[in-house]
Amino acid sequence: MDLWVIGNLRRWWLFYFLPVFLLTSEVSLQETVEGFIGGSAVLPCSSKEPPDTVQDIDLVRWRHRGNSNNVYIIINGEVSVEGQDPEYKNRVESFPEEYLGGNFSIKLNNLQHTDAGKYKCYIFMKEQVIKSVELFTRERLERQIPSEGTKPRPEMTVMIISALFIGIISSLNKCVTGVSS
Ligand SMILES: *[C@@H]1O[C@H](CO)[C@@H](O)[C@H](O)[C@H]1NC(C)=O
Repeated sequence: MDLWVIGNLRRWWLFYFLPVFLLTSEVSLQETVEGFIGGSAVLPCSSKEPPDTVQDIDLVRWRHRGNSNNVYIIINGEVSVEGQDPEYKNRVESFPEEYLGGNFSIKLNNLQHTDAGKYKCYIFMKEQVIKSVELFTRERLERQIPSEGTKPRPEMTVMIISALFIGIISSLNKCVTGVSS
């Protein structure tokens, strides 16, 4: 009976926990990038097989959240603004000096909340490469600190006063016990 249970547990581990473990490790292997609202972020994308010439770069296309709208397009090694989603107009740059190294990373400027999410980079050269990267956006800390500082924090004052009282009471207590002993 016990052996049967152990055998079953092993099977459960293999069929249930192992796939879950593999799935989560795959998720953690996925590339993630963080950027501040109003700031910029570099979304990485590179191919292990670099092109021989710039003309060999048939097409590189960046897309966001499975949208058919293009974030950025490179055709025959040249940036094409036609067909770029207006939302990204003048906000995206790439690194042409890196193209021949197979690096088609882009820099997204003036980040907005709507920019967050999954991006896919499709490279069409000798072979096809698809990379995904997830962008997380955060509010800038500098904006939060002044608004917090101008507000009085009553709970902090209460904490400091009670800490002072506890200190005074415990030192009085020490004095009293010191006298009595
Ligand atoms: C690709 O180029 C960008 C910009 O120069 C750089 O930050 C990044 O490290 C490069 N990636 C690789 C894999 O070389």
